[in-house]
Amino acid sequence: MKLLVTGGAGYVGSVTAALLLERGHEVTVLDDLSTGHADAVPVGATLVEGDVATTAPAVLMGADFDGVLHFAARSLVGESVVEPEKYWYGNVVTSLQLLEAIRVTGTPRLVFSSTAATYGEPEVIPITEDAPTRPTNPYGASKLAIDHAITSYAAAHGLAAVSLRYFNVAGAHGAQGERHTTETHLIPLVLQVAQGRREHVTVFGDDWPTADGTCVRDYVHVLDLAEAHLLALEHASSGAHQVYNLGSGSGFSVLEVVEACRRVTGHPVPARTAARRAGDPAVLVASSDRAVAELGWKPERTAIDQIVADAWTFTQQVAARA
Ligand code: UFG
Repeated sequence: MKLLVTGGAGYVGSVTAALLLERGHEVTVLDDLSTGHADAVPVGATLVEGDVATTAPAVLMGADFDGVLHFAARSLVGESVVEPEKYWYGNVVTSLQLLEAIRVTGTPRLVFSSTAATYGEPEVIPITEDAPTRPTNPYGASKLAIDHAITSYAAAHGLAAVSLRYFNVAGAHGAQGERHTTETHLIPLVLQVAQGRREHVTVFGDDWPTADGTCVRDYVHVLDLAEAHLLALEHASSGAHQVYNLGSGSGFSVLEVVEACRRVTGHPVPARTAARRAGDPAVLVASSDRAVAELGWKPERTAIDQIVADAWTFTQQVAARA
């Protein structure tokens, strides 16, 4: 297929673009490089540098794309609380412009990066797609608003659309991995300690209602996640908007993740407990049963040590290149 990948210079977008190319698809990456990296765009993809709202219509026009994979977004929960405008304009308005370009050009398929943050504080674990959507921050709310828009575009205009709700993405795929200028995610931060770039990792709360008192999350390997996007493209059906949760189905506590990083890196990784971080739910674990049943998705890299080991290999490669 001939595909447009917005945000293909970012973490999940670049891994998915690489996999699409490996499977013989033609890939154009559209990225404004505000948080992505030009050197993350895989060899073989065409990079168009520009923002989605103004550039996507020009790229799609008259070029007969078979589909769009829309990764480009702002994705920091904390920032979204302080600067919501970046999320309502940067995520929602931009995505509406993209949807209009898709409608006007008759582009048949869309795969959208949604998030577990659309659910908010869960009542039942594991979280299924039928769980109530009550986001607790503007980031999750902005992604949910886009999901609603996609539902109505699919129904009214025959778009074949799939939203994938990621849980905690981690790991790496060769030269493609997680490289944020402002790093807030647990595994990359712990690996910075192992690299000697930080003194210690801060554990946000040890008084949560969990077995060891720290928050539990569902870590999904970025390559398993990328595979789901290819399956979503195949299974997208005209006029329908399908929604799938993507996680590994098991939860690991913050302390278990730190322990895995110690095993993988051989570094003692000092940890200090601090207060709870605002907005963190205690436990987020996905039910991915629907993706398994309907897409035939099989997450294969579910061991936390493997996820951390792949992230560690990538982190060391980046350090060696610098
Ligand atoms: N944590 C620490 N110390 C740190 C960083 C994180 O203890 O220095 C803890 C957090 O409190 C949380 C867990 O580690 O309990 C994971 O935190 P991350 O920041 O790595 O990830 P989140 O679970 O907060 O966020 C992820 C995605 C978001 C998404 C959210 C909900 O990054 O985009 O899951 O699905 F919105």
